[in-house]
Amino acid sequence: PVSVYPTKEVASVQVAERIANLIRRKQRAGQQAVLGLATGATPVGVYEELVRLHREEGLSFRNVVTFNLDEYFPMPPTAPQSYVTFMNENLFDHIDIKRENIHIPDGTLAAEEVAAFCLNYEQQIEEYGGLDLQVLGIGRTGHVGFNEPGSAPNCGTRLVTLDDLTRRDAARDFGGKENVPTKAITMGIGTIFKAREIILMAWSGKKASIIKKAVEGEVSGEVPATYLQLAENVEFVLDEDAASELT
Ligand code: F6R
Repeated sequence: PVSVYPTKEVASVQVAERIANLIRRKQRAGQQAVLGLATGATPVGVYEELVRLHREEGLSFRNVVTFNLDEYFPMPPTAPQSYVTFMNENLFDHIDIKRENIHIPDGTLAAEEVAAFCLNYEQQIEEYGGLDLQVLGIGRTGHVGFNEPGSAPNCGTRLVTLDDLTRRDAARDFGGKENVPTKAITMGIGTIFKAREIILMAWSGKKASIIKKAVEGEVSGEVPATYLQLAENVEFVLDEDAASELT
């Protein structure tokens, strides 16, 4: 299903409320909530609202376990562009999550360590009982996570090569495309599909044409987000501008 909200602010508050309800429901049952998280501009408003709910309405993250979708490779966690830094600044530093419950792909591994790390990432998700909710943005290539065009529908966590358009879109954060890493570690389409609920968010007219392809286009590895059309538990949460090309 597709939900269209007048603005990204209104939509972000709705998504944050869904996450908060999941966390509270799990808390009442004495269980952990296992969240799959994204970085980038798209989820910033959701994280802001979650921080507000923590500060002003007593929402606790003590029972929350998180797995981030991806990290550039190579990437030291302390770099300003790392997804570790992003998550700390936008969410983790402002809530009461236990540090040991946070999982983000490791951008500091030696090449020969990557495959074992990726298998272990999948296993850890399984050991926590799987992802309750995966939050996604979408890149202009149609990527979710960093599953670029050509990704298979059943792929798992792995080292990938970033699309040229993805690197151009990241150029500003790195002071030029040539400084953007060429690779990343990302959860796979198969990993994302195992989540019990998936929310893909997109804002602004810049995402309108890829959203049209993702929601209405033929399912194909050329636009990996189209695979989500085959998931039963997915919701596309859009602002009016991102939805403007949908028929
Ligand atoms: C980020 C991620 C990416 C972004 C996508 C959109 O963890 O996995 O797929 O969600 O590139 O980025 P923004 O939100 O910056 O437009």
